Amino acid sequence: MPTNMSIDSEATSQGRTKDADSQLNVEPTGSSSTEPSPSTEHSGNDPDGTPAAQDAHPPGPLGFSTQSVHAGERRQKPEGSITSPIFTASTYTFESTDALLRFVDGLEQREEYGRYGTPNERSVEAKLAGLEGAEDAILYSSGMAAIVGLLMCRLNAGDEIVFFDQCYHRSREFCAKHLSRFGVVTRQVPTGDFAAMEAAITPQTKMLVSESPTNPHLTSIDLEKFVAVGKANEVETLIDATLATPFNLRPIEYGVDYVLHSATKYLGGHNDLLAGVLCGSRESLEPVRSLRGILGSINSSHNLYLLERGLKTFELRMQRHNENGQAIAEFLDAHPRVDRVYYPGIKSHPSHDIAAAQMRGFGGLVTFTIKDADWKETSRIVDAARIPRIAPSLGGVESLIEQPLVMSYYHCTPEERKQFGIDDNMIRMSCGIENTADLIADLKQALEA
Ligand SMILES: Cc1ncc(COP(=O)(O)O)c(C=O)c1O
Repeated sequence: MPTNMSIDSEATSQGRTKDADSQLNVEPTGSSSTEPSPSTEHSGNDPDGTPAAQDAHPPGPLGFSTQSVHAGERRQKPEGSITSPIFTASTYTFESTDALLRFVDGLEQREEYGRYGTPNERSVEAKLAGLEGAEDAILYSSGMAAIVGLLMCRLNAGDEIVFFDQCYHRSREFCAKHLSRFGVVTRQVPTGDFAAMEAAITPQTKMLVSESPTNPHLTSIDLEKFVAVGKANEVETLIDATLATPFNLRPIEYGVDYVLHSATKYLGGHNDLLAGVLCGSRESLEPVRSLRGILGSINSSHNLYLLERGLKTFELRMQRHNENGQAIAEFLDAHPRVDRVYYPGIKSHPSHDIAAAQMRGFGGLVTFTIKDADWKETSRIVDAARIPRIAPSLGGVESLIEQPLVMSYYHCTPEERKQFGIDDNMIRMSCGIENTADLIADLKQALEA
């Protein structure tokens, strides 16, 4: 028996290794441009992994949509199928002990056991890494699973983590209520207050966390400053860029270590799946991937197929989300019943200048408050809207509307809501891809009903 043979019960090692992307069509570039920078290199392989002449893509840089349609996929798929087959296998067979030994000795890259990776997962991960301009991407069963997977991997008892306080409340809750049980200390500082962040850093601090823009206040974080604070203190940085997406914001190009997305939102884009993705350098993600193989927070191939399908229209959808978000924010800003609009693309937003400098577009999420209205009057406006549906979540083709008070923050005390900046008269709308004029006409009638 070879000395390095594992005695793991159902599987011998984790199939995904550093070189796994060599089986994929497109390599991510990690370019330093501030524009989305699709990949330029392709290494076409036929289904058994050997180079195939017909897989060659045209030379030169490819556009964002070209990449979201083709990156990560084998050009010639089984049976000539143009779409990716859905691999339903939970385990992958070896034709002989010799074949198994080639795999466990690291001489051959291939699938082994579903919890460690699947062909559908490799393909979508490579597509997402390419779109993000990152070396690598790891998919999870949800955005929360992705953040939990990263923090569980990088933090030890006694370590500390510093959050900007407008970060997704479940991420902060996981740290405050659960990581604390393992001896990890969470500190929160006001969003965008870098002096407070510096002051909160101690020799035990291992990670700085922010969202940009934040939800629901749409505050943008100056990524240059965020990265500078991390580097000066030798602390890793994580940006949750769910609301921005790689189309609108390029955190890796600023030097952010980890970029997180709830792929449930714009990346999937159709309100029909949950998934999360973590992007970063191959080296730093290797132990994180290894832990995911133990945690088992993975996607079924059916889910991954939906995500891959959704990504094909990513750029087209984002263009419409950006157009709708901007038009609706401007409409609301000018409407006499509206008190305040939170949208990165309008000048009155306190962090508009930061957003304008680092974002390509400002997304589909718009938050606003109703002038002199109590919670009941505000909910009447929500109920009067005919196109957006009342639901949590964002980033799908269908517009959604909600009053944070009676959705995510219903069980908070008034003091907690004040602390989180959630007003009784606040409405959050996720603009879908419906026609702009229809959405505006609908909001107008709801506001004026
Ligand atoms: C900004 C942000 N990050 C992370 C998450 C968590 O993602 P998921 O619901 O896919 O677990 C959400 C969900 O709403 C979110 O809005």
